[in-house]
Amino acid sequence: MQLFLDTTDTATLRALAETGLVDGVTTNPTLIAKSGRNMTEVIAEICEIIQGPVSAEVTAVEAAAMIKEGEKLAAIAPNVVVKVPLTVEGLKAVQTFSQSGIMTNVTLCFSALQALMAAKAGATFVSPFVGRLDDHGAEGMGLIQEIRTVFDNYDFDTEILVASVRSLSHLKEAVLIGADCATLPPSVFQDMFKHPLTDRGLDAFLADWAKTGQSIL
Ligand code: E4P
Repeated sequence: MQLFLDTTDTATLRALAETGLVDGVTTNPTLIAKSGRNMTEVIAEICEIIQGPVSAEVTAVEAAAMIKEGEKLAAIAPNVVVKVPLTVEGLKAVQTFSQSGIMTNVTLCFSALQALMAAKAGATFVSPFVGRLDDHGAEGMGLIQEIRTVFDNYDFDTEILVASVRSLSHLKEAVLIGADCATLPPSVFQDMFKHPLTDRGLDAFLADWAKTGQSIL
């Protein structure tokens, strides 16, 4: 399971990258707007911090314009993944990127059949948005299971990148289903390390150790 961070906050990203456990980054136009920075600069900085896949999203809606934008984004760094919306135009662009060896992440996926079309177009990643489906009254994690089945049935190489993750339970279910990757808000990534019994157990061990008066070094 590859763990990506869904953020344009480079200070937080630098701190969390020190864990050695961040495999990639995703961004979207909302996150770029939130950063208040020039898109090219922020994507270039993220690509220096994290050597794994870094998704940068096109904002054109027609294939020809998406291709031009995607080529510009892909030129920022070799680890840029061009993020494209799951539309007919988007999937036309994905086929072109795929032929020219540019990695793609097809975003805003809300059904197994949409994911099938993204895989047939040659997407490197497809991003089903589980949190937004839950918000809509549907079962977000059910979609991950369905896409896993579709991709396994037909041996697609496209990786399932679970997106719009809101909680540790989303992530746990994604791991149990066998999704390939998940992109997490930094707070969810940080929460993964925590358990109250770990803290309590460590406090007790350290207190008992102190009573011995020993030192290992
Ligand atoms: C992923 O690629 C998206 O940027 C992100 O996960 C969307 O999450 P949200 O639904 O919390 O905005």
